[in-house]
Amino acid sequence: MRYYGGKEKLLDLIEIGVKKTELNHGAKFVDLFAGTTIVAQHFKKKGYTVIANDFLEFSYALAKTYIELNEEPKFLKLKKYLEVGQIDKNYVIGYLNNLSPKKGFIFDNYCPNGKGQRQYFSNENGQKIDAIREKIEEWKNLSVISELEYYYLITAVLEAVNLVSNVAGTYSAYLKIWDQRAIKPLILTSPEIIPSKRKNKAFKKDANQLIKEVKNIDILYLDPPYNSRQYAANYFILELIAEGWFGTKKPVANGKTGMINYDHQLSEYCYKGRADKALDNLITNVNAKYILLSYNNEGVIADSEIKRIFTKKGKVQLFKKTHKRYKSINQKENDPQNTEERLYFIETSLAIKRANKLDGGTWLQNSFSIWRDIAKNQEEIKLKHPAIFPLQLSERIIDVLTNGSGKNILDCFAGSGSTLIAGLKKGMNVYGIDISDEFQKLFFKRINNHYLPYKDSGKIKYFVKDAREITKYIEPNSIDLCLTSPPYWDILNARRSADLKIGRNYTNKTQDIGNIESYNNFIAELKKIMTEVAKTIRENGYCVMVVMDIRKGSKFYPFHSDVARIMEEIGLTFEDLLIWDRQKEYNNCKPLGYPYKFIVNKVHEYILIFKKYGHNK
Ligand SMILES: C[S@@+](CC[C@H](N)C(=O)[O-])C[C@H]1O[C@@H](n2cnc3c(N)ncnc32)[C@H](O)[C@@H]1O
Repeated sequence: MRYYGGKEKLLDLIEIGVKKTELNHGAKFVDLFAGTTIVAQHFKKKGYTVIANDFLEFSYALAKTYIELNEEPKFLKLKKYLEVGQIDKNYVIGYLNNLSPKKGFIFDNYCPNGKGQRQYFSNENGQKIDAIREKIEEWKNLSVISELEYYYLITAVLEAVNLVSNVAGTYSAYLKIWDQRAIKPLILTSPEIIPSKRKNKAFKKDANQLIKEVKNIDILYLDPPYNSRQYAANYFILELIAEGWFGTKKPVANGKTGMINYDHQLSEYCYKGRADKALDNLITNVNAKYILLSYNNEGVIADSEIKRIFTKKGKVQLFKKTHKRYKSINQKENDPQNTEERLYFIETSLAIKRANKLDGGTWLQNSFSIWRDIAKNQEEIKLKHPAIFPLQLSERIIDVLTNGSGKNILDCFAGSGSTLIAGLKKGMNVYGIDISDEFQKLFFKRINNHYLPYKDSGKIKYFVKDAREITKYIEPNSIDLCLTSPPYWDILNARRSADLKIGRNYTNKTQDIGNIESYNNFIAELKKIMTEVAKTIRENGYCVMVVMDIRKGSKFYPFHSDVARIMEEIGLTFEDLLIWDRQKEYNNCKPLGYPYKFIVNKVHEYILIFKKYGHNK
């Protein structure tokens, strides 16, 4: 819908703010000045629980339809009333489209042959609007449509009217010459309902009043008017059609433009010198974790004033975008072509960012530096992957470092995909890259045979590629947690010293760093890969590497400390370290070196935790 100040083209800017909150899936998103509801719709589609409010009736109709309605209306009572065998939305919309034209309020006041001789609509379209709108009101009065079905039909009328109005954007005046669009016939189409499992809600209240009633908001989005143009005036015909002209309502079309009196719908946000007070008052009553405000450089509240008001609630950040200026009838020639659209982002004191979802007891248990109770499940024991680590380990690392659901997890040496399966179990989007197509196949086989219920829990992307090229496949700064276990140079072809089990190497490919003979060359190549991997991790994201030290013949290779060194050189911070005690798995140990040289039997691995701090360390 064409709407002055509509945010369809600025959704990307709003997304930046919403992403920063790190809240998703079910978080409560409140759009207090919803207008066309395009922003509220966008976040409903993304799975938020959405509240949309506006003090205008036509916006309320849109919000009832696109926000509150979660499934197609069924029109069951209407079916009975119309005595038809089958009914659905298309039938009802078709029924309304086929009504005979009728001369009524719209024709009289807003069509050229009516009393008012105004030309907002062609004579034919005006009569169609009258017939359709009156019929919907009749059904409502007979209680053969529900409240939501009523608003669904009103929405269909509003959208069709908007397409055939003879105006230049707003309804403050009609065009003297007929616009091509206005001579086309008015045809209703069925609104597309956005399915959702959440309890989404529409309100029609003054924003400053509603804010006192809605508590526990996660993200509050504010898009008040920026300037002196009152929406009720500029969209009075849409408002009139939504409200109707029936019963005790006696709207009067005034003057040349036929405007209806809208004194009861004046917005404080349209007045210089009053808008700042209204915003200040609203912010005082806010109970939200994050506040996002859209405004531009031409608004009636100065940037310094906005910052002053918001600073009372928390830290203010500003994101900007240059945007094509809305062209109005009053546009002067030297008016600038562009405006600077701004998004103010405020993190309030209620926004405590939890590191994870653990209760205190589990947090404590997992915080001890040695993890002794990790074991493979039956499926994993049967698998023939040389270095598979148990799902239980990946799941625990996910549990301690992330909030799980909705986040993005990566394994840059994905193998048979334990990290990815654990990620799916936690409802994450999972990304894997591996040089071997055999392992990719094995991963999907594992999913299909053993973990099918989790297959659709999140996005799955597994690339058979060289991890040095990871940024071609995975978006930079997108990964919340990279959890991986790198290959060991050609050690897997040798025998494990502790229990003499024979290792197995991964592939014969030259890009496979598991085939590099020299340890130093291997470390250098690993560093190249991890440099690229680090680019895919978001600010404050983690990279966890599960590694062990190696003895090859008489030489000891302190792999964990070399990994720590290269990761710090790459720019990640070595945050912490856990020991994964695997002693239970080693049941065939000998006294190494006995009796000449004491040598350690290595029965543990290191869980090395690195963090990408970016600029906010
Ligand atoms: C800039 S528009 C919002 C546009 C909307 N974000 C969109 O994308 O369509 C501002 C809206 O605020 C509404 N409004 C103005 N003052 C209000 C108030 N005090 N309470 C509730 N709504 C108000 C207007 O009716 C208008 O729809």
